[in-house]
Amino acid sequence: MATEENRERRDLPIGVFDSGLGGLTVAREIMRQLPNEKLVYFGDTARVPYGSKSRETVTRYSRQIVRFLQTMEVKAIVVACNTASAYALDELESEIDIPILGVVKPGAKVAAEVTRNGRIGIIGTEGTVGSGIYTTYIRQIRPDVELIGKACPLFVPLVEEGLWQDPVTDEIAMRYLTELIDSGIDTLILGCTHYPLIRDTVAKIMGDHVTLVNPAYETARELKELLERRQLFSLTAPGLGTNQYRFFVSDGASRFKNFANSIIQYGILSAKVINIEEY
Ligand code: DGL
Repeated sequence: MATEENRERRDLPIGVFDSGLGGLTVAREIMRQLPNEKLVYFGDTARVPYGSKSRETVTRYSRQIVRFLQTMEVKAIVVACNTASAYALDELESEIDIPILGVVKPGAKVAAEVTRNGRIGIIGTEGTVGSGIYTTYIRQIRPDVELIGKACPLFVPLVEEGLWQDPVTDEIAMRYLTELIDSGIDTLILGCTHYPLIRDTVAKIMGDHVTLVNPAYETARELKELLERRQLFSLTAPGLGTNQYRFFVSDGASRFKNFANSIIQYGILSAKVINIEEY
């Protein structure tokens, strides 16, 4: 039987954070798959990118954001950034007493399940690819798998410039992906939050025989299971006017809002700037 306290906890929001805009692809999947849930999203737009920063810096930033989200009384946290998940998740997990989920493990699990020939490609930031984290998780499930990593740093600015379907993006993607095609992979992990937005370009270049894994989708699925298991799943849809989705950034609120409105259909009413260094 659900206690009163548990019922109240179920109605608390989920905290979602990223280095900036890209985590909105994860937030979008959570909104689709968990329509009853409230979200508090934080995008670290003042300090993006994380992909080229050190483990120490990314961990320090992530810790500040977790502290901020805890002041918003979230019931669980999703690290909607591959780089932060790769570098900081284990430490964060040991420091807080609410569930925290990254995007790497769910993506790795599905990739290990879908590969037929045991050759998996992973594209992401320098930090994510260099950390070898996908290899670690995948080999825990399938030790025989061969992983081929490729950092694709130019994809992030191309996506943020809105060049999702553009000859420039095709050209850069071709350069990055040729060695993955040549390596004979049958599965490719889109290991950066921005990449689902250029999925069509990547799919066209890789061909039909390569399965693309989107960790954003898998993370939302895993979050649903986690909330059910912990009895934290919201049972009722938030009523009208309850501010179901709240957005915070560390800089550039109007740029964030415009980008968010181009990928989320729910209408971002506002994004508030906070000083994350205070946390
Ligand atoms: N959100 C980051 C990631 O998924 C990409 C952008 C950045 O480098 O901060 O790794």
